[in-house]
Amino acid sequence: MIEKIKDLMAEVETFAVDTKEKAEELRLKYLSKKGILNEIFAEFKKVKPEEKREYGQKINSLKTLVESKIAAAQEALEDQLSKPNDLDITLPGPNHNLGSHHPITMVKNEIIEIFSRLGFTVAEGQEIEDDYHNFTALNFPPEHPARDMQDTFFIETNPDILLRTHTSGGQVRVMEKQQPPIRVLVPGRVFRNEAVSARSHCIFHQIEGLYIDKNVSFADLKQTLMYFAKEFYGEKTEIRLRPSYFPFTEPSAEMDVSCSICGGKGCGICKNSGWLEILGCGMVHPNVLRNCGIDPEVYSGFAFGMGIERTAMLRYGVTDIRMFFENDMKFLSRFKY
Ligand code: DAH
Repeated sequence: MIEKIKDLMAEVETFAVDTKEKAEELRLKYLSKKGILNEIFAEFKKVKPEEKREYGQKINSLKTLVESKIAAAQEALEDQLSKPNDLDITLPGPNHNLGSHHPITMVKNEIIEIFSRLGFTVAEGQEIEDDYHNFTALNFPPEHPARDMQDTFFIETNPDILLRTHTSGGQVRVMEKQQPPIRVLVPGRVFRNEAVSARSHCIFHQIEGLYIDKNVSFADLKQTLMYFAKEFYGEKTEIRLRPSYFPFTEPSAEMDVSCSICGGKGCGICKNSGWLEILGCGMVHPNVLRNCGIDPEVYSGFAFGMGIERTAMLRYGVTDIRMFFENDMKFLSRFKY
């Protein structure tokens, strides 16, 4: 019996009481009516009188051990409960704000995606340009008043270097390197020395298109742009081409699309005309082809250029162009893809 009590002592010693339930389990097992201690007390009656003392002591220490273990566990558990709990699982977790594309990037990617279905690839132009690629090669003769159509940021110490005023110089750089057939888009940032307002900015983005091959006609230009307009603005969109002037195209045109906001009925966005001007275009001028080493007797082509901010403003109903450059998180977080 002494051995049995020793084993039980060892068992109680190692019994992990880390919850209320465990403490109760230990109590029931040892201290309840049908518990182990009562069993042992029953056996104790049969112990010889001269051995009672030793047995009694052992049984008592077992009982004390169980009781103190339960008491200690209860104290520890109560302590835990009364301490302010610094883990509040009902609190909202830390905010993991995921980034998203800028609306200008989203619109640019969508335009590229539509033209890529027609075989257009993408080329990079350069933001710091020389006068030749931005103007001269594009058939703007020196001193020609058409240069004033675009207010240019020049470098003071070298008037030959400028910030490109349009992506059209990218056409020249592609044609210099590559013989037709050419089907290319040149997206990018452009700069003009203009006052900043809700409608215009000194920095904005354009996307240029160029298609050069044998027998490219104005009908191809029209069809390509119509395809784009219907894909981007919707199946019911109509287009209209108005004669215009650009030194690097002949003939030149500006394209309007039927207003996607009011469906052509007239609204504030289209200034009640039912039409929105979205791009400039035309047949590449023979002088431009010649300047780039392409024979205009063999090849012809078309070009177009559109402003991305304007397109994005129409797409998302943004009324102030400056919003695109302010990096206001409230504004930007509206555009999730
Ligand atoms: N570069 C012109 C601008 O910034 C837009 C443009 C018009 C581009 C006609 C073209 C084009 O390629 O053919 O206003």
